[in-house]
Amino acid sequence: MPRIAVLTSGGDAPGMNAAVWAIIKLGAANGVEIVGVERGYDGLIDGEFRPLTRATAGGLVPVPGIAWLAGTGGTFLGSTRCARFLTPEGRKAAADRLTGAGIDALVVIGGNGSLTGAHRLAAETATTLVGIPASIDNDVGGTTDALGVDTALNTILEACDRISDTARSHHRAFIIEVMGRRSGYLAMAAGVAATADAVLLPEQPKTSGEILDQLEGLIRASFAPERDKRRLLIVKAEGVPIPTIQLASDLEERVADLDDVSVRASVLGHLVRGGRPTYQDRMLAGRLALAAITALGDGHSDVMTAWSSPMGTPTIDTSVTLVPLAAMIEETKAMLDGSSEVVRRRVRLLREVQGVLAL
Ligand code: F6P
Repeated sequence: MPRIAVLTSGGDAPGMNAAVWAIIKLGAANGVEIVGVERGYDGLIDGEFRPLTRATAGGLVPVPGIAWLAGTGGTFLGSTRCARFLTPEGRKAAADRLTGAGIDALVVIGGNGSLTGAHRLAAETATTLVGIPASIDNDVGGTTDALGVDTALNTILEACDRISDTARSHHRAFIIEVMGRRSGYLAMAAGVAATADAVLLPEQPKTSGEILDQLEGLIRASFAPERDKRRLLIVKAEGVPIPTIQLASDLEERVADLDDVSVRASVLGHLVRGGRPTYQDRMLAGRLALAAITALGDGHSDVMTAWSSPMGTPTIDTSVTLVPLAAMIEETKAMLDGSSEVVRRRVRLLREVQGVLAL
């Protein structure tokens, strides 16, 4: 009977558990044993496998006691950022573990770093594998959405709404910092949806002085006596290299002459990474998992299942394509250095709406 291993790697993302659950059920339905790898690539190197399907008289079924995890955040398999897997020796040890456990193929669920590692594993050891993009940062090249992004955006929106309640009550400017590493996607998408007045992105580099000038001008214009604005919301991506608390206190000093206006900051941090996956993330998890299992059955390897991507080979699902991991790596690099058309378009769009946001 064929055996497929599945692991989650890097920062956890809501929807990872739903994807693992979908893989278990799809495997069981197709007579494929599914084996979970604990703690990502670390667990793979150390051989930490656990069966996720079991044989019954009626055929393969999921092991008991895990179904409820599909709707939970985080990853029940555990995850690490594995330094050993960055070396060829670590990857060789991982491949040997797979062979030793009689595993035919691997599904890697993770962000761009984890999928880059998967590509190296496939290239160096001929391991058959498929990746599923999962990262709240939405910085995996070649897919419009990764697992976890929608849930993270909904969490940020909820936080912005709550903070807006208190900000309006006290006539305040609020800076909300959101995760995203070097990507400003979460800040931009949530900022626009939350009707923020400004969004600060690493993709639009500015000096601290320029940021302070822009925000001071915004506060003065927004809280001018002829306006009835009571809350000013600035969503800042963590990749903008000015400490958020410092920014708030510098700004407050600059507008100290304004009566009844204060500036506060809130860093949402890991709050944004947890939580039960939304419908969108669970739906994405199921469809990307189906494409991954089908791709392995069809003999594909070293590819990622991508959502609504202009790149890749079509699948039976019109919204999902198979993008070579090498192409994912190229596009991710371009996204991070700003040369990708995807990022250029995002920045152009934001520039277009900047004047509108501030109204
Ligand atoms: O990649 C996901 C992410 O949550 C980033 O947004 C953030 O910069 C980073 O991980 C935080 O990593 P850690 O949980 O290891 O501190």
